[in-house]
Amino acid sequence: MEQSTAIEVDVAVLVKGILKSFEGPKGATNKVLKGVDFGVKRGEIFALLGSNGAGKTTIINILSTLMKSDGGTALVNNFDVAKEPGKVRQSISLTGQFAAVDDILTGRENLILIAKLRSVANPAKVADELLERFGLTEAANRRVSTYSGGMTRRLDIAMSLIGKPAVIFLDEPTTGLDPEGRHEVWKTIKELADGGTTILLTTHYLDEAEELADKMAILHGGTIIAQGSLGELKKLFPPAKVEYVEKQPSLEDIFLAIIGRKADLNASRNADPNAGTNTSSNVRSDTDQNANRKAGN
Ligand SMILES: Nc1ncnc2c1ncn2[C@@H]1O[C@H](COP(=O)(O)OP(=O)(O)OP(=O)(O)O)[C@@H](O)[C@H]1O
Ligand SMILES: [Mg+2]
Repeated sequence: MEQSTAIEVDVAVLVKGILKSFEGPKGATNKVLKGVDFGVKRGEIFALLGSNGAGKTTIINILSTLMKSDGGTALVNNFDVAKEPGKVRQSISLTGQFAAVDDILTGRENLILIAKLRSVANPAKVADELLERFGLTEAANRRVSTYSGGMTRRLDIAMSLIGKPAVIFLDEPTTGLDPEGRHEVWKTIKELADGGTTILLTTHYLDEAEELADKMAILHGGTIIAQGSLGELKKLFPPAKVEYVEKQPSLEDIFLAIIGRKADLNASRNADPNAGTNTSSNVRSDTDQNANRKAGN
């Protein structure tokens, strides 16, 4: 594909000085983004963190060309979102904060519809492959209204993969999912990144960012106030005090063990004995789980 603005080829998303205001109550100006800067490398998982109303969805909307910024520049796949929105749209997919599936249709029909809209060759084959990959083959011909929240979210993400976009935006991909559903979505996200897809996600779950993100940024008060890998962010704090305490399983560990998911989970959590257990202590592993993921452990 033609690259019109060859700035930094290994950078999939580059955001510089982005500004955005909305009209607030009684005509006041609500300055939401006051100069946001960050970059995401190709194949990286980047987590955008911030409180409710911080402006995470606004950034995703600007990057996916659904909304115009008031200033600054944003490049996605080396295309300027303001000057080349069509090329940006060809490079991305967006799974919004609220599922965008049509629940009157079946899972298979939803996938075929999107494949046709994206002019993908052989829509039925593409749909069947995705249903298989996302564990939805048995439910393929059922209306989405009968799916669980996790199944719907998986279908939503599957739909976003049609056409093999270079960059995927996931706005709160696991909100509302049970622990099993969250782990399934995490596995999918890791597999996508391992295949070279760049992923920018937002989340309120800090354990999710720890588990998935190569890099993360904290949006607060209209700007990015901290960014880096988990290891880099940890260095902003004094070294942890080492205490020897008995490890207790977290409620999530207990829940997953009781419903019989523990074995799967341990296997998918990179065989890191610390990664699967949120202890009640403040003794944590500094192991960079993403390094494990990249190394294929
Ligand atoms: N279209 C809009 N019109 C007016 N105000 C808006 C609009 N979209 C967002 N805002 C305001 O911008 C601010 C940021 O909203 P945004 O949805 O980006 O936050 P967020 O970080 O995604 O929050 P959450 O974690 O709750 O999803 C909020 O104050 C919101 O009310
Ligand atoms: Mg949001």
